[in-house]
Amino acid sequence: MTATRSIPAFVLGAMASLALALPAKAQDKAFTLHAPAALVESGLLGYILPRFTLKTQTRITLTGPDAPADARFGESGIIAFEGLDRVWRFDAGEDPDAQRFADWLRSDVGRNTVDSYEIDGATVFTSEVEVQKVVVEVSYDGDALRGEEVSLSHCGRCHVVSDKNRMNSIGSTPSFAVLRTLRDWEDRFQAFYVLNPHPAFTQIADVTEPFDATRPSPIHAVEMTLGDLENIMAFVQGIAPADLGRPIQSMQD
Ligand code: HEC
Repeated sequence: MTATRSIPAFVLGAMASLALALPAKAQDKAFTLHAPAALVESGLLGYILPRFTLKTQTRITLTGPDAPADARFGESGIIAFEGLDRVWRFDAGEDPDAQRFADWLRSDVGRNTVDSYEIDGATVFTSEVEVQKVVVEVSYDGDALRGEEVSLSHCGRCHVVSDKNRMNSIGSTPSFAVLRTLRDWEDRFQAFYVLNPHPAFTQIADVTEPFDATRPSPIHAVEMTLGDLENIMAFVQGIAPADLGRPIQSMQD
């Protein structure tokens, strides 16, 4: 896949539609991988790569530091694991086989494999990367303080929003700190007003349709603006995700 970098955009476009039509062909079951020397020398890759290859029949070729590679371990991409005093990220790039490897790395099987690697009887790497370090780099322009106030007044009767309403919310409703651990927390918060149970009682000015007159909100309605939501995003962004040991991957809905 690396060789396609110099191909003109219109050809790539045509290839992309071809790839869509023939998804199986897009995967050549091989990708090239660059990893920093410290990681290669640790022996971890020699331990995990063959296991992934065996399971998926995907050939992974390690490249030298200066050679182009489809995927790489380093500073960017998903959080893969922690060890040797740092967090290792994996950037799968565009290659579907490398993306599959990324999924595997964060799957239970992949994580167990990483966690079970030992040098002289001691584990060296852990897939339980502290969630605090996973803080996404995006930032919202809203006012986080205002966001906390809005959250407390509009969401706080159901959700634990912060320490300020820990005692008087509905226990079965996920706290904001728990929701904040979800990989896609931003999508969920940005769209909360279309996600159940909120549509029945939530109105966002200029966005949602007015309540159906025959089916008024069954409970005290949440009425807010997109500006309020922006402030909530800024506030939630700054919440330390709940420490659940490992981030939850999905929630029942
Ligand atoms: C009347 C109670 C109530 C209020 C008020 C409320 N929520 Fe919720 N919210 C819930 C419940 C219950 C769930 C869990 C739904 C589930 O598990 O499917 C939830 C889930 C969520 C989720 C996760 C949704 C998903 O499907 O992933 C987000 C995000 C959320 N709420 C944000 C908010 C925000 C922001 C506010 C305030 C502006 C708010 N909620 C107000 C009851 C409420």
